[in-house]
Amino acid sequence: MKILNYYFSSTGNTEKVALSIRNAAEALSHSVTTLQITRGDVDIDVLKYRLVFVGSGVYSQLPGQALIELHRSLLLKYSTVKEIIYASPRRQSAYVVVYCTYGGVHTGINEAIPAVKYMGQLFDHLGYTIVGEWYVVGDYKTEGSLLRSIRGRLGDIRGRPNKADLQAVAERVKGILTSCSS
Ligand SMILES: Cc1cc2nc3c(=O)[nH]c(=O)nc-3n(C[C@H](O)[C@H](O)[C@H](O)COP(=O)(O)O)c2cc1C
Repeated sequence: MKILNYYFSSTGNTEKVALSIRNAAEALSHSVTTLQITRGDVDIDVLKYRLVFVGSGVYSQLPGQALIELHRSLLLKYSTVKEIIYASPRRQSAYVVVYCTYGGVHTGINEAIPAVKYMGQLFDHLGYTIVGEWYVVGDYKTEGSLLRSIRGRLGDIRGRPNKADLQAVAERVKGILTSCSS
């Protein structure tokens, strides 16, 4: 199966998840195109892929700016060529997993939900079936933010995503691939 795996990551946490997705899918002999999004004007045709993984860190409750811009321009492009039409009819065999890494210092998962819902909307508009919404804990890595990783709503999240988190991601990828290949 042709898989697209793209992500935005400013401090490396989401990249770890994206690489875990890539490794798990490649280990099962799938072909994976992995792209780090750093600008909003990347030329990608998501419709060429039956299965897409899209992820981002959460920043002020939303995905990274470049990913927001990318989705805005893809919404416009696919609307113009009528791949997005009223009522968003479902597309056969088109699946997406949307995920984020987040720190949740103030309100926990609630501050990550808007980011995941935002990213999923492009694909829902296109008629993809959303087969997963994953919330992976990611510690705060910017200078001076140690206390955010210790005293927030999720407790001590230093070192996350850790080996167990990434292993859990890899296991979920296997499940998704079984589900979408059949
Ligand atoms: C500038 C900044 C803003 C952030 N805002 C939020 C936020 O609103 N909610 C949240 O849950 N986590 C927030 N975080 C934590 C990040 O989502 C978390 O560290 C994530 O794993 C970063 O992903 P990345 O390393 O791929 O960039 C923020 C982190 C930074 C650096």
